Amino acid sequence: MLTGKNITIGVTGGIAVYKAAQLVSNLAVSGAAVRVMMTESAREFVTPLTFQTLSGRQVYTDLFARPAGGAVQHIDLAASSDLVLLAPATANIIGKIACGIADDLISTVVMATSCPIIICPAMNVNMYNNRVVQRNLASLRGLGYHFVEPGVGRLACGAEGRGRLADLELIMDKINFILANEKDLQGLSVMVTAGPTVEPVDPVRYLTNRSSGKMGYAVADAAARRGARVVLISGPVELKPPAGVEVIPVQTAAEMHAAVLERFSSVDVVVMSAAVADYRPKTAATQKIKKHGETLTIELEKNPDILAELGRIKKHQLLVGFAAETEDLVKNAQKKVSAKNLELLVANDVTLPGAGFGTDTNIAKLVFPDGRLISLPKMDKLALAHTILNEVPVLRRGGKVNHIVPLS
Ligand code: PMT
Repeated sequence: MLTGKNITIGVTGGIAVYKAAQLVSNLAVSGAAVRVMMTESAREFVTPLTFQTLSGRQVYTDLFARPAGGAVQHIDLAASSDLVLLAPATANIIGKIACGIADDLISTVVMATSCPIIICPAMNVNMYNNRVVQRNLASLRGLGYHFVEPGVGRLACGAEGRGRLADLELIMDKINFILANEKDLQGLSVMVTAGPTVEPVDPVRYLTNRSSGKMGYAVADAAARRGARVVLISGPVELKPPAGVEVIPVQTAAEMHAAVLERFSSVDVVVMSAAVADYRPKTAATQKIKKHGETLTIELEKNPDILAELGRIKKHQLLVGFAAETEDLVKNAQKKVSAKNLELLVANDVTLPGAGFGTDTNIAKLVFPDGRLISLPKMDKLALAHTILNEVPVLRRGGKVNHIVPLS
């Protein structure tokens, strides 16, 4: 699978550098063209000759080296990579990337490339748990960087805990997963809904829910990275739109309904991850409602069920819904997948820690109309987004295979 792929590895200074040598060897054996960049600190542990011998290529160490032919080295490395992998990635390089600092070869390549980047942190447990490092990791996750989390065990410094470079097998799995997904949605038009809707009660109050939009934005981001043309119909959220995605902001369920229907005939796939309000106030007061009695009754009326309507009118479109449940997850999800005439339903029990509203991770079950059910482990929302999208080409072919569960 890696034959012909250009993988550029940034090796930074930590004791796990010796494991990176084995990783380079494994990648070279898999057929990838591996280029290694080393920081000065990494060269304190292992000499470039080790990596040169294992990769069969020159090792890059100097930001200002001028290759023959006048190319600008970091731009050339960035542009010609299918994947950049940082292993081991120290707290220092993670901090630099998170802060937008580009002052050496590896950080400039990371900044200049548009290919996927996998970061494999490795450091002392206290450094790893440091709140600044955790904040940097969270911020990079939010920006779509991929991670292979460090393992737990005895560290080279003698401490016990999380911080060891992840097993090389896990890193290889992640590389294969990401490269396998490359551009497989090219030519498809995908509509994603995300976030909550807000339903006005009066000029200062509204009904809404806890959706942050993270799940839907991850789906839109993943679909765009895989080559799809993506339109994201988004309720009000505080997220940066993913690169290359057309965003249509909406407020109410009625607006989301109109925006979705307007574009439905021109899309191939719809992923409805938005938490759409089922009911809205029957009339929104034009003036602020005054405090009078001990109770206040607001009459609600039903919003349109957008997804159910798409299920009724769909032609070639593939429909993926979500179900946010607090009980009887599978039973309720199975009812929804057939009631809404979906090809796939992603069911999440929003009461579980690390699942549902507002979290960076989710725990989901994929429910198919033919009764198949896949229980996924807890994974970050981008990894779940990719797992959902893995099903799209298969479902479009009418097939029933392919269940790669990514290691996040
Ligand atoms: O945004 P995050 O903070 O990341 O949280 C993610 C999430 C919990 C919102 C997401 O994972 C999720 O579960 N989204 C669906 C929420 C929901 O509205 O579920 P539901 O079971 O009520 O609806 C079932 C499906 O019908 C959903 O695809 C929903 O978008 C759709 N629907 C619901 C009501 C309605 N009036 N119209 C709809 O189209």
